[in-house]
Amino acid sequence: MNYKSKLPNVGTTIFTVMSALANEYNAINLSQGFPNYTGSQKLNDLVTKAMNNGYNQYAPMAGNLDLRLAIGHKYELLYKSSYHPEKEITVTAGATQAIYTIISAFIRLNDEVIIFKPAYDCYAPAVEINGGKTISVQLSAPHYSVNWDEVASKLSSKTKMIIINTPHNPSGTIWSEDDMLQLQKLTQNTDIIVLSDEVYEHIVFDDTQHLSACLFNDSKQRSFITASFGKTFHNTGWKIGYCCAPENLMSEFRKVHQFNVFSVHHPSQKGIADYMQDSETYLGLNAFFQRKRDLFLSLISESRFKVQPSKGTYFQVLDYSEITDAYDVDFAKRLTKEFKIAAIPLSVFNDNHKDDKVLRFCFAKTDETLVKASEILTKI
Ligand SMILES: Cc1ncc(COP(=O)(O)O)c(C=O)c1O
Repeated sequence: MNYKSKLPNVGTTIFTVMSALANEYNAINLSQGFPNYTGSQKLNDLVTKAMNNGYNQYAPMAGNLDLRLAIGHKYELLYKSSYHPEKEITVTAGATQAIYTIISAFIRLNDEVIIFKPAYDCYAPAVEINGGKTISVQLSAPHYSVNWDEVASKLSSKTKMIIINTPHNPSGTIWSEDDMLQLQKLTQNTDIIVLSDEVYEHIVFDDTQHLSACLFNDSKQRSFITASFGKTFHNTGWKIGYCCAPENLMSEFRKVHQFNVFSVHHPSQKGIADYMQDSETYLGLNAFFQRKRDLFLSLISESRFKVQPSKGTYFQVLDYSEITDAYDVDFAKRLTKEFKIAAIPLSVFNDNHKDDKVLRFCFAKTDETLVKASEILTKI
């Protein structure tokens, strides 16, 4: 058969590659971003109860209404921001589907989408498969700060979307109020849509506040916010997330969503809705991960890795330049094979594989795993 790949440059994601290598070499896997402990028993029970109570047929296309009400309540509580549960919130199969569907609903041939690199790896292929073009703004270790003049210079009449992600995977940095205001200023009086990937909104450290796009009035009017219950409730395998946007944008989103997935696993939605009635279920996440980050940092304090403490997400970036000048992908593979610890090299998320000699480690792991991992890291 003769066919032309629509994504000729896309291979297997680095997460799959490193996790497979970790399994092959029986290494501690701090590469892929998922917990190695179980989530809440109460939540599992509520999902089981939903199944037993008959929530087993298609959920409404936009999501179980109790869940959309709970999400709406969360935005009122945390950001004093209103999203209409019936018109402005849609439950999705993880944030990944929300992101893909948003891009598919708005990006046409030759449209330009601004992406900040290093970038989570599902953005660019979704743009490309829809005929769009990504325009990168490359950030650098250790602070990954944004040069807003550079962003301004990359905007054109073709710019249709800007994708932002704070707290940021993979760097563990967060955007300041000034960043959010600069974004707002640049997009004001344009038709640019902002896709604000906020899957780590409940994981910010050192008493900092997460700055959601919905806190900035003009930005809110042009933004889709995407979120992931997998990240919030330690169940990445459930693949349930959602997005919020003003009604006019959301109605376009739903035109694609209804033929893309239609609706997602109903009992999980109902169980999560009931679980979220207690706001501590998501408000407690900061403290949970702050303790893990602090534990990990204290355990590796004697190592030769250089550290800029993560400000958000459950990732810690470590600079290995004092250990070797090896290319980060090679060093990550060597760590897995020889030292039995797997991490993610950041160059794979950069333009031209820019190599800052840093690796990303996931600390959403049991304390026991973090202790074992740190013992290895301290000896390298
Ligand atoms: C920045 C970012 N966005 C989106 C996702 C995808 O979330 P989900 O698993 O809900 O699809 C991830 C998962 O790692 C992520 O790190």
